[in-house]
Amino acid sequence: MSDARRRDAAHSITLTDGTATRTRKAATADLAPVQELHHRCSLRSRALRYHVGKSGLSPAEWRQLSNPERGTTLVTTPTGRTDHIIAMTNLMRTDEQGVGELAILVEDAWQDRGLGTALAEHAAAVARREGHHTLAAAVAACNKPMLHVLEKLDATPVDTTGSVVDLRISL
Ligand SMILES: CC(C)(COP(=O)(O)OP(=O)(O)OC[C@H]1O[C@@H](n2cnc3c(N)ncnc32)[C@H](O)[C@@H]1OP(=O)(O)O)[C@@H](O)C(=O)NCCC(=O)NCCS
Repeated sequence: MSDARRRDAAHSITLTDGTATRTRKAATADLAPVQELHHRCSLRSRALRYHVGKSGLSPAEWRQLSNPERGTTLVTTPTGRTDHIIAMTNLMRTDEQGVGELAILVEDAWQDRGLGTALAEHAAAVARREGHHTLAAAVAACNKPMLHVLEKLDATPVDTTGSVVDLRISL
C-alpha cells in the first residue's frame, strides 16, 4: 500500500483532552519514528510492553512486526504530525488458528488520555475483520492500566504463571 493510501485508511481517535490522532497500518519505513517512540518511553513502559529490559527494536524485530504475514502493526500519530509516532499496537498471529496476540505501547507523555482503551477497541475490530475469533494478551500482573483496559473489553484471565497474566477476549 502506498503512503498516501495508508494515510487515507487511517482511523481517527480523539483523546479525552480533545487531541485528534490518526492510527494507520505500519510500514517497514516507520522503523526510525518507532525507534524514537521507544527512546521517549520510560524503561518501565518498555519493560511492561516486552517483559524484558529493552531500549528499542532491532531492524530484524521491526521487519517481523511490520510483516503483514506475521500480523498487523498499527502506529498512531497526532493528526498533522504524520511522522511523530506516539503509540504502537501489535496484533500478531499465533500458532492457534483465529487467535491474535495483542500488545500496545503508548508513549508515557500520551498515557492516561484514553488512547490505550481506544486502541484496544480498534484492535479488536481489526482482529474481527481479519477473521480472528479470540484476542490473547500476556500482561504483567502489576500492570494495572493494561489490565483495566482489557477488563473493559471483557477479558478473562486464563492463566497466571509467575508475574504474568494470560488473558483472552472473545471477539
Ligand atoms: C497500558 C497502556 C497501553 C494504557 O494506555 P493508556 O493510553 O494510558 O490507556 P487509557 O488512558 O485508555 O486507560 C488507562 C486506564 O487505566 C487506569 N489506570 C491508570 N493507572 C491505574 C492504576 N494504577 N490502577 C488501576 N487503573 C489505572 C486509568 O484510570 C484508565 O482507566 P479509565 O479510562 O477507565 O479511567 C499504556 O499505559 C502503556 O503503553 N504502558 C506501557 C506498555 C504496556 O504496559 N503495554 C501493555 C503490554 S501488554
